[in-house]
Amino acid sequence: MQNIIVLGAQWGDEGKGKVVDLLAEHFDFVVRYQGGHNAGHTVYIGEKKFVLKLIPSGILRPGVQAVIGNGVVVDLGALLDEMTMLEKVGIDVRGHLHISNRAHVIFPFHRLVEKMSEARENRIPIGTTSRGIGPCYEDKTGRRGIRVADLFDPESFRTMYDTLAEDKQALAATFNIHETIDYAQIRHQYEEFAERIRPMVCDTAELLAKAMSAGKRILFEGAQGSMLDVDHGTYPFVTSSSATAGGACTGTGVAPTKINGVIGVSKAYITRVGSGPFPTEIHGEAGESLRKEGNEFGAVTGRPRRCGWFDVPLLKYTAMVNGLDTLLITKLDVLDHLAEIPVCIGYKIDGKAITEMPATYRAMEAIEPVYVTHPGWKSSCRGIKRFEDLPKLAQTYLNHLEKLTGIEIGGVSTGPERNETIIRPGSKLEKLIG
Ligand code: GDP
Ligand code: IMO
Ligand code: MG
Repeated sequence: MQNIIVLGAQWGDEGKGKVVDLLAEHFDFVVRYQGGHNAGHTVYIGEKKFVLKLIPSGILRPGVQAVIGNGVVVDLGALLDEMTMLEKVGIDVRGHLHISNRAHVIFPFHRLVEKMSEARENRIPIGTTSRGIGPCYEDKTGRRGIRVADLFDPESFRTMYDTLAEDKQALAATFNIHETIDYAQIRHQYEEFAERIRPMVCDTAELLAKAMSAGKRILFEGAQGSMLDVDHGTYPFVTSSSATAGGACTGTGVAPTKINGVIGVSKAYITRVGSGPFPTEIHGEAGESLRKEGNEFGAVTGRPRRCGWFDVPLLKYTAMVNGLDTLLITKLDVLDHLAEIPVCIGYKIDGKAITEMPATYRAMEAIEPVYVTHPGWKSSCRGIKRFEDLPKLAQTYLNHLEKLTGIEIGGVSTGPERNETIIRPGSKLEKLIG
């Protein structure tokens, strides 16, 4: 029995969707443990492109059970839209999706609160996805949130909802925001949504415990990335959930003793959407060119992603907080055209080398990256399936990253499709999925 976590080792959009879809064939369950429809996980199957936001990417594999764990925040409208999108192409969602009765529910007023918070004077805007994610987690931690199970208890749902809605209205009035929201109509709509998801709702911790007892294998699909983790990321420029490995346990009810390995997904360079410190960001034309080459535009919001060079200290840090066993490096082919590839091997602040990741965003903004320059291979890696078939200089680049980070590079992605992937024979990655 092997239960494995796949998560983003940078600031999100590393290619987790592609990797999870690829590995899902070796697992019985694919489980989301945090975040919500702020995620955008792209999967290509032949000509067909899917962008999964809330439903685990494993849903695309026939026979795989998909679970939305208790740590996820669920916008029921977005969930039902995503189900419809998948059902339209013949995927049996209802027969394979399980939704935790303990997951918290996002309501339209959460988006209103987010808008207020982002626009507030003297508050640094985070550049969120505007999906109401942060305010929903605020209500969760504030112990006033509404969970999926509450939707099925009409009387208490009405009271909880009305109280929460009144709070939000009072808050909006304080900020002189007068949006016309028909709160009662929304409540009715959610009661109706609840009926539509009812057959899929259960105690997913129990479901997974039973599955493990029966020898089934579980793949945990991380959303966002480790540097967006609410504790370990570049706070406050983070999301509001635990995107690191620990979140897989708290967000599903599966104990740490049941987890057998952690796979980090990282681009061969790095990107970030939204605001916040970014030591290796490439400004100007070189950044534009990488964005174009990698098609770096947000899968959810369409915003241009900021691009930068591979950051070794950052990767070592995320390897530490996640206990990464192995790395799968994606989008190597995006670097094909470059004559030279800088790699950040250290950080300095005020000319002095630092060895720890700074805790404040102000200190992170002061980082002066130390680079080494790697010769580019200037030939195509696209679709290559064996490490030995990569251009020699691409092999050297990867071997260099492996040595600098101290983490095995067990796999390499050389294109967006399932089969455009190298899994290195004898690697820990191969053993974890084998
Ligand atoms: P996620 O949020 O981590 O699942 O990543 P996204 O789906 O938001 O962004 C990754 C993008 O890169 C998607 O458009 C993928 O189809 C694409 N992609 C993934 N792996 C590769 C690769 O190896 N090469 C190229 N060219 N594109 C890739
Ligand atoms: P996937 O799973 C990249 C970023 C937002 C913003 C910050 C907070 O596709 O990798 P939020 O709406 O979560 O409160 O926004 O986090 N962000 C992501 N960036 N990939 C994601 O998901 C992201 N989800 C949120 O841009 O900076
Ligand atoms: Mg994404």
